[in-house]
Amino acid sequence: MRSYSLIAPAKINLYLEIIGDRPDGYHELAMVLQSIDLADQVDLRSLSTDTISVRCSHPQVPINRSNLAYQAAALMAAEFPDAFAQFGGVEITIDKRIPIAAGLAGGSSNAAAVLVGLDLLWQLGLTQSELEELGSQLGSDVPFCIAGGSAIATGRGERLSPLPSVDNLYVVLGKYRHLDVATAWAYQTYRANFGNTYVVNKQDLTSRAAAVHSSSMVQAIIHEDRFQIGQRLHNDLERVVIPAYPQILQLKETFQNAGCLGAMMSGSGSTVFALCDSENQAQKVHQQGRLLAQPSDLDLFIARLTSTGIQVMSSNKD
Ligand code: C5P
Repeated sequence: MRSYSLIAPAKINLYLEIIGDRPDGYHELAMVLQSIDLADQVDLRSLSTDTISVRCSHPQVPINRSNLAYQAAALMAAEFPDAFAQFGGVEITIDKRIPIAAGLAGGSSNAAAVLVGLDLLWQLGLTQSELEELGSQLGSDVPFCIAGGSAIATGRGERLSPLPSVDNLYVVLGKYRHLDVATAWAYQTYRANFGNTYVVNKQDLTSRAAAVHSSSMVQAIIHEDRFQIGQRLHNDLERVVIPAYPQILQLKETFQNAGCLGAMMSGSGSTVFALCDSENQAQKVHQQGRLLAQPSDLDLFIARLTSTGIQVMSSNKD
């Protein structure tokens, strides 16, 4: 039986702009995505039967077909029936460290790890763009999670342009354990509140999305201007998530007052991140986070920006 252990990093959104509606019911977005080294471990072990199974000790992670990692394996089995028949099913074990329903793409990263791992386990030799295309069938963030690093993402979030990696920046992440935001709810609420401001003309949609390539955030990343990266953090979804969950604003202000480059909600939340210039600054922000009113309900993490996506940690043939 062969097995692979993979590292599946979380992502944060340094920039998220909602431009308009798409014919497929999703939103046209312009984003800057960034991997961080807070990561799950995903182990894949080939089985002699034709079953796909998911194991995870986290009580909130489903181990049935609703798990995106299961869906990734099912998609691979459907796309490559000969390899599935030859190599058999797979047992997927997820060691969950990324908070769930947190805007950190934890589930998407697990699915990306299954795609990368099964490509190796089944000796398919898929290219990165073939893996990304499969990923886009599972979720908008899955393609980015495969190569990770730093990238502009447009379309649904699946159209990627890599950016140079910004080294040696840290983030402090804060996530209230009871506060899970459903991504679909956040986008639907945004549409209900701000749909009247959406760009509708197809050409205007395309040019607005293209404008992110010359935006201040992208210029700041290219020039490694840490101060400007902190200043240009932006997330349209804060406009609907923060009014519904005021604790998010309180956490963001606590981080900002503690002295960081900038603080912002990631994706559809509820995680707030503080971008920090050094590990020392991150430790100070972390300490201030601990002083918040309900420290027992607030999970805090320190992570580093990373230039990598899914990584193979080890492989075995027994
Ligand atoms: O693609 P994913 O399954 O991660 O998206 C979750 C939900 O977020 C979608 O069902 C949709 O409601 C919303 N979404 C959107 N536009 C996007 C990405 C996600 O409206 N570009």
